[in-house]
Amino acid sequence: MSVKEIFESMDYGPAPEDASEAFAWLVDQGSSFGHFIDGAFTEGRDDFKAMNPANGEILAELTQANAEEVDATIEAARRAQTRWARMGGAARARHLYALARGLQKHARLFAVLETLDNGKPIRESRDIDIPLVQRHFYYHAGMAQLMAEELPDRAPLGVCGQVIPWNFPLLMLAWKVAPALAMGNTVVLKPAEQTTLTALLFADLCRRVGLPKGVVNIVTGDGAVGEMIVAHEGIDKVAFTGSTEVGRIIRRATAGQGKALSLELGGKSPYIVFEDADLDSAVEGLVDAIWFNQGQVCCAGSRLLVQEGIAEAFHTKLKARMAQLRIGSPLDKCIDVGAMIDAAQLEHVRGMVDGCDAGEVFRVNAQMPAEGSFYPPTLITGLAPSHELMQEEIFGPVLVSTTFRTPGEAVQLANNTRYGLAASVWTENISRALDVAPKLAAGVVWINGTNMFDAAAGFGGVRESGFGREGGWEGLRAYTKPDGRVRKLERIEPNTGEEGPEDGLDRTAKLYIGGKQARPDGGYTRGVFNPRGKRLGEVPIANRKDIRNAVEAARGAAGWSGTTGHLRAQILYYIAENLEARADEFAARIDAMKGGRQGKKEVAASVSRLFTCAAWADKFDGQAHGVPIRGVALAMKEPVGVIGAFCPDESPLLGLATVMGAAMAMGNRAVLIASEPYPLSATDLYQVLDTSDVPGGVVNLLTGAHEELAPHLAGHMDVDAVWSFSSSDISKVIEAESATNLKRTWVNNGHARDWDASNMRDFLEAATEVKNIWVPYGD
Ligand code: NAI
Repeated sequence: MSVKEIFESMDYGPAPEDASEAFAWLVDQGSSFGHFIDGAFTEGRDDFKAMNPANGEILAELTQANAEEVDATIEAARRAQTRWARMGGAARARHLYALARGLQKHARLFAVLETLDNGKPIRESRDIDIPLVQRHFYYHAGMAQLMAEELPDRAPLGVCGQVIPWNFPLLMLAWKVAPALAMGNTVVLKPAEQTTLTALLFADLCRRVGLPKGVVNIVTGDGAVGEMIVAHEGIDKVAFTGSTEVGRIIRRATAGQGKALSLELGGKSPYIVFEDADLDSAVEGLVDAIWFNQGQVCCAGSRLLVQEGIAEAFHTKLKARMAQLRIGSPLDKCIDVGAMIDAAQLEHVRGMVDGCDAGEVFRVNAQMPAEGSFYPPTLITGLAPSHELMQEEIFGPVLVSTTFRTPGEAVQLANNTRYGLAASVWTENISRALDVAPKLAAGVVWINGTNMFDAAAGFGGVRESGFGREGGWEGLRAYTKPDGRVRKLERIEPNTGEEGPEDGLDRTAKLYIGGKQARPDGGYTRGVFNPRGKRLGEVPIANRKDIRNAVEAARGAAGWSGTTGHLRAQILYYIAENLEARADEFAARIDAMKGGRQGKKEVAASVSRLFTCAAWADKFDGQAHGVPIRGVALAMKEPVGVIGAFCPDESPLLGLATVMGAAMAMGNRAVLIASEPYPLSATDLYQVLDTSDVPGGVVNLLTGAHEELAPHLAGHMDVDAVWSFSSSDISKVIEAESATNLKRTWVNNGHARDWDASNMRDFLEAATEVKNIWVPYGD
């Protein structure tokens, strides 16, 4: 092209990035890779290939791990863990800092290799992925330094098994490795089979900076290797990012194994544009929301919701902008849209769009590269909210769009999905933005922005987008456990005795559902006896239908979650006062059921616990993170929703007061299953609740067999979290059944808890979700 022609067309010329250093590194390694185990690379095999999706070029030969290799890796990580933890946070900080520096020094090599292996534009890997990776290691070097001071009662979990996807290969590695290492864990990480190379380059960096051997281990291969790691008994925590489908498989596979688990899964995140938005900025934001990384982003703003009055103008602007997007070689610095990860993903996206029989499809008429896995940016308008493409993750550069009339309708449409990862809200009215953000079912909300990330701000979802946060303090805590020994919890059998009324009085309690006493659906009751077999009363045996009714009542009490902490504190104080007024009666009841004379102490502790919960109700605040933007990220604590809990058997009143108090204080509604052997403390509490202004449905109390009720409560689609402190062996069934809607679980795995200990933080954390609301400011 002559200069004259260039001036005439004003086309961009090619600006290719030099990939020679990346190729040289591959050649240096023999272009054949084994695993990175115990500080060294194993001999490579040609089991599968690393391929450049932009042109089909083979980049390297890779090794599929077998069971022995996985065993050896996990053993190496185990051997290294004690020393790594004992080294202390300050020493670990130095290693993390060295990794951060190394990533910075070799930034371009990492970026180019990422683009070669993944197909993402070099602009993105160079300016977004790799800088965020460095930031993550720097940030967590600081966390390692602060651990002893700031988390004195926490200990590392042990060996972490980490399985990551292909869309942000090195960034997902950083999100998982940095906090794990900072807190004294060692890791076994499996990159996605499509994108292994930057993980191996990172392994090389670990070796070069002198990270102690066995602290970071990388095994390569496909989902079968992931499966082996996840199920391995030598793993203490599983951290997974990927599809909701595999997340569910992992939830079931790890049920009852006592492993910590975090799942960062799919999404169908809404991008809401109000008519008072800065439309040009909102259009530009969409480029980052859905065409960033070819739309292969879990939190992609893939569902455009635009206010009716501006819909036409907005779509026109959007189409004009789409026509400007440049598609082509990812190594070209002028390119906006690169290659999709592979032919399978390309086919998957093509299949979903071609199968769409409704709406109007608009595609960019751009020049597409002749080879490689490319798909043009696409907009589909006019789909019904229930349409498959409005509901399912496409995971490609395809935006679906619909309109709304009012803010209320926008929220309704936004939340009309099984996911809850992220959302963007565009309006120049800050008051509206901050009104809408808390109403959105999402772990992250960006106001007038999109896809903003930082190590200081936790990232993660609600609903079927998974659970757990990565980044920030909350992400960090998930790589620790309470310090100290665990005690085994033996099953407590109910006392037995002669059936039939002992003193001629009918003392059959009912269930407590929706603020009213309700007969059990099944019509069955059982006797409650003292240790010598004397009958103390009867309690109903709740069944599946009673659970259903209780959950419905709890759902119906959603207003409680919108109340102020101040109000919730007052009601909790009131419960405590009313309980105290009947202290003798409650104490006598506990003594009668359990034998001994501990009742008085337990009642006093319960009153005090309720006071503590009341105290926390308006003080368990969020944070304002100083993220590196002109603005803030507000980490807001929100209630989880409906919490189902199996209360502790051994501590019938104090345990109940703790669980109920924490759940209520944080704005949750609860379905509580009373202590199985000593249920009368719960049934006596109905009247206390009735006289304490607790709105109907906020607390629902059931009595019955824990083992019988566990699968129903854990499998219920309208329950958001299930906790168990039961002495029955129900942890496994709860974790397995929770996979239905990926509810949060907190189970004891047969370990005892000291109910007298007063630290409420674990309960308050479990009773809340952190939502990060990013608020940029300035003109
Ligand atoms: P995937 O969820 O199958 O793969 C993610 C990682 O899990 C990979 O490392 C894979 O090897 C591993 N894996 C697969 N099966 C496993 C198992 N049973 N146990 C343990 N590990 C296992 O995702 P895939 O197949 O690559 O993509 C399929 C769809 O998933 C995409 O079309 C997209 O919709 C979604 N996806 C979502 C991601 C997200 O960040 N939310 C990331 C990648 C994919």
